[in-house]
Amino acid sequence: MSAPIITFFNNKGGVGKTSLVYHIAWMMADLGKRVVVADLDPQANLTTAFLTEDEIERLWSGSGPRLTVWGTIRPFQEGEGGLGASTLTPTGDDRLGLLAGDLDLSAFEDDLSASWPKCLDGDPRAFRIISAFWSVLQNAARQHHAHYVLVDVGPSLGAINRAALVASDFVVIPVAPDLFSMQGLRNLGPALQKWRTGWRQRLHMRPENLALPEGEMAALGYVVLQHGVRLNRPVQAYQRWIRQIPEVFRGSVLGSPDPTVPDIDQDPYCLGQLKHYRSLVPLAQEARKPIFFLTHADGAYGGHLLAARDAHGDFAMMAERIMDRVVEVTQTHPA
Ligand SMILES: Nc1ncnc2c1ncn2[C@@H]1O[C@H](COP(=O)(O)OP(=O)(O)O)[C@@H](O)[C@H]1O
Ligand SMILES: [Mg+2]
Repeated sequence: MSAPIITFFNNKGGVGKTSLVYHIAWMMADLGKRVVVADLDPQANLTTAFLTEDEIERLWSGSGPRLTVWGTIRPFQEGEGGLGASTLTPTGDDRLGLLAGDLDLSAFEDDLSASWPKCLDGDPRAFRIISAFWSVLQNAARQHHAHYVLVDVGPSLGAINRAALVASDFVVIPVAPDLFSMQGLRNLGPALQKWRTGWRQRLHMRPENLALPEGEMAALGYVVLQHGVRLNRPVQAYQRWIRQIPEVFRGSVLGSPDPTVPDIDQDPYCLGQLKHYRSLVPLAQEARKPIFFLTHADGAYGGHLLAARDAHGDFAMMAERIMDRVVEVTQTHPA
C-alpha cells in the first residue's frame, strides 16, 4: 500500500496548525518513520519553519523550475508537458523530506476552480489538474520510501484546499476552544462531505488509464490547541468550549450526532491536547528545530529543558495515536 496522506485542516487560521504539523513530522521521524511533509498553503509558513530566508530564496529563484510543489505543477498547468519530478528539500534528518511551499501557488486557484465542473464532462485535463497535488505527493512518497505523508494547508474552503483534500486519505482537525474555532469546525464538516461526494460523482466520469485518488478524506480525529486560548480568559469559558468539542465534531464532521457523547478525556477521536509552550516557542523558532530537541546550546536551561522533555512525551503520544488511528480507520473502512 502507498503511504497514507494525512492532511491537517481547519477553517480558522492562527491557531497553531502549522506548528503542529511541523512537530508531528519531526516526531514521526524521531520514532523511526520515513516522512514526507508537504506545504500546500500558499502562505508557505511551514516552509519558513524549516528553512532560512536565504535557503527559501534559493528554492524560489534560478532559471529552471522552482524546487517547490508549484514548481513541479506549473509547467504542466501551462501546457509545457507533464508534471516535473517531485523534489524534496533536505531537513537535516534524512528520514524527513520537505516538499516546499510557494507563494505563487495561489496562481493555481483559478484553474482548480474551473477544472472542478469540467471533470463532470470527463475532461482528462481537468482530472489531471484536480489530481495534480495527489500525483506530486505520490511521487514524492515513492521516491522517499515514505511511511507517511503529512500535509499542511491554509484555512480556506476554496479550490486549492478542495484539491488538497481530494488528495488526502485522512484528515486531522486541530481545534482551539474558542468561538471562532468552533464555528470553523461547524463549517468544515459539511465542506468535507460536499467535496467527498462531489469527487465520487466525478470518478464515474474518469478517463481510462488515469491513476486518481479515492478522495476518502476520513477524519482521524481532532487535536485541541489549548494555547489558542487567551491566557487572561476565565477558566469557565474555556471549559465550556472544551465540553462542546466532542459533540460538535460528531455532529459536523462525522455527520452522526450522538446522544452519549464522552468527555474529551475519554473521547477516542481526541488525538491529543497541545499545551501552550510559551518561551520555548521563540527559542525553537530561532534554532529552527522542534521544541522537544532544544538543548543548552539553543539557550534552553533548567525549567526549559524539563518542559522540552515533557513536550517530547506529549508529541510522541500524539504521533503514536495518529498512526494507530490510521490503522483502526483503515481496518473499519477497507478500500
Ligand atoms: N503550542 C504552542 N504554544 C505556544 N505558541 C504556539 C504553539 N503553537 C503555535 N504557536 C504560535 O502561534 C502562532 C500561530 O501558529 P501557526 O502554527 O502558524 O498557526 P496556523 O497554522 O493555525 O495559522 C505562531 O506564532 C506560533 O509560534
Ligand atoms: Mg498555518
